[in-house]
Amino acid sequence: MNYNIAVLDGDGIGPEICAGAIKVLNKVGEKFGHNFAFEHLDIGGCSIDKHGTPLTDYTVQRCLASDSVLLGAVGGYKWDNMPGDTRPEKGLLKIRKAMGLYSNIRPAKLWKSLANASPLKYDLVKNGIEIIIVRELIGGIYFGERDKGVDENGVEYAWDTEKYSVPEIERITKIACEMAQKRSKRLVSVDKANVLESSRLWRKTVHEYAAKNFPEIEVVDVLVDNMAMQIVKNPAQFDVVVTSNIFGDILSDEAAQVTGSIGMLASSSLGDSKCGLYEPIHGSAPDIAGKNIANPIATILAAAMMLRDSFDLNEEYNAIESAIQKVLDKNYRTGDIAEDGAIIVGCNEMAELIAAEI
Ligand code: IPM
Ligand code: MN
Repeated sequence: MNYNIAVLDGDGIGPEICAGAIKVLNKVGEKFGHNFAFEHLDIGGCSIDKHGTPLTDYTVQRCLASDSVLLGAVGGYKWDNMPGDTRPEKGLLKIRKAMGLYSNIRPAKLWKSLANASPLKYDLVKNGIEIIIVRELIGGIYFGERDKGVDENGVEYAWDTEKYSVPEIERITKIACEMAQKRSKRLVSVDKANVLESSRLWRKTVHEYAAKNFPEIEVVDVLVDNMAMQIVKNPAQFDVVVTSNIFGDILSDEAAQVTGSIGMLASSSLGDSKCGLYEPIHGSAPDIAGKNIANPIATILAAAMMLRDSFDLNEEYNAIESAIQKVLDKNYRTGDIAEDGAIIVGCNEMAELIAAEI
């Protein structure tokens, strides 16, 4: 089969980690008889520098015409002081919106060989952790109305709004329920219903939708502050978690760290079609860009998720996952997941080692 993949390398370590994922995909193609064609497109800071905007219509069109999109990361010091609407991050938000990717799945899993990389006590992680965070991705405060100004007394102000509609909550609840159905049949919904009106609608809608369409799923509500605490107190208690855009952003970084390193976590973003966007959950790490020390595993896993979730290539997904496991078992590590006695390798070498195990 032929697959056309749009690659949005982005900024910072983006190009290095995408190169790693492409290396692994090419090896998968060779082994399983697929042809992956890659089209590199601009997004983020590099797009600002070349085209004066973080996302061009051309990039959007090509992404929509592709079979799926692989993205590295966007942003960097150079563009940090730009106004909100022209920042590199805006490019990422716009492509998510333009492709209608409302469902963002972030599996935070503790790899057996990385138990020592978790900052938590061994006792808390020894039985493994796998939290699937289902984050609403194109609504809420990220996309709500906002403004800033100066009032009549010369005081500067700014505001953003968190707004959700019932259909927006229902469609993400559906994705989370389908996931929970295949797993533990337990769903945790995270909100701040003791304070926010939008969260009260969220809570009511999640319960009504789940009760009507997935009666066998048990839905438990957890307030976001308590959730932040529970993730470090006892992460093994969670399976599928559904939450809003901003809470999902914050909690997924926390869950990532608890499972060892943010350099290990991938995410898939999908809407109603099979054409999705796959990216690591970490950022562009401008401090280590170009040094060949970044961890490419999250991006390689993102590419694997693309094969599974957009192209239905389950065997190929498993091949990548077990190749990563083998390389970790052989004690190879990038700096972020280094431990005593490990063999430290660079970004490029890590990708080569994984490709070699396919
Ligand atoms: C993420 C990132 C993005 C987000 C930024 C870069 C816009 O932090 O994917 O988690 O906040 O969604
Ligand atoms: Mn984030």
